[in-house]
Amino acid sequence: MLIFCHFLGLRINMIKEPLDFEQIHQMIAAENLSGLAKIEIFDSINSTNTYLLAKAKQEIVSGLVCLAEQQTQGRGRLGRSWYSPRGTNIYCSMLWHFKNTMQDISGLGIAVGVMVVNALRQYGIRSGLQLKWPNDVLGAGRKLSGILLERSAQSAVVIGIGLNLDVQQAKEKNWIDVMELTGRPAERNLLTGLLLNEMLQKLPLFAERGLSLFLAEWQQYDALRDKNIMISMPKQNIYGIMRGINEMGELLLENEKGMQCFRYGEVSVREYC
Ligand code: BTN
Repeated sequence: MLIFCHFLGLRINMIKEPLDFEQIHQMIAAENLSGLAKIEIFDSINSTNTYLLAKAKQEIVSGLVCLAEQQTQGRGRLGRSWYSPRGTNIYCSMLWHFKNTMQDISGLGIAVGVMVVNALRQYGIRSGLQLKWPNDVLGAGRKLSGILLERSAQSAVVIGIGLNLDVQQAKEKNWIDVMELTGRPAERNLLTGLLLNEMLQKLPLFAERGLSLFLAEWQQYDALRDKNIMISMPKQNIYGIMRGINEMGELLLENEKGMQCFRYGEVSVREYC
């Protein structure tokens, strides 16, 4: 996706398909535009989530979107960093204000995972997509997209999505990108527009009706169902068989103690047990 030009000894990074407001905006259906406040596009930013969290301290503008060509301090779940080179992937955050106080945002992550899958399907990726609890999107069993939800106030959340379009340079064997799944360079603006459109359509439905609307779809893509897994918790590891999720989006784990629910945790599959 990046073309390097050597000119008078300078190496200039030219982005093949720069983020383009018009192209992204035109993918958003008229009936969903009322939820969109503004799309801000940055060439480089520390983190699109950090930016919106700071903005929300001044004023919570629901539907404010931040996109960037590059993140210098992209953040992942559990304090990890998120690989964010310039001009290749999608780094997208949206600030959303719910009318009611949200006690728990874990259900929202489940719903957003379904939205990301829907956008990818609309883009043309029809097979190989899965969801790994709590909110990873997998392609052919490898990580394609990650979601980072951060509460900015009792009723407002920053929804951050990182979507791998070309991570060949990263040489991370557990990752995959859209380019590998489709066999052609990704159309970044089209995919970003589809993603925003899906979020603007479905977030109001989540606010109105909660997770119930998304559960069946999520289950269809569940990558862990009936697998032997380990949940890493700060003080211990817990083992058992994954039995799906409940109506609150909590993971159901069956083991000798019976059925247990988990709201948070890091899951890995135990291949040989
Ligand atoms: C994960 O660890 O799986 C979540 C990754 C979330 C990355 C996205 S990229 C856009 C937004 N800005 C960030 O700093 N993080 C999220």
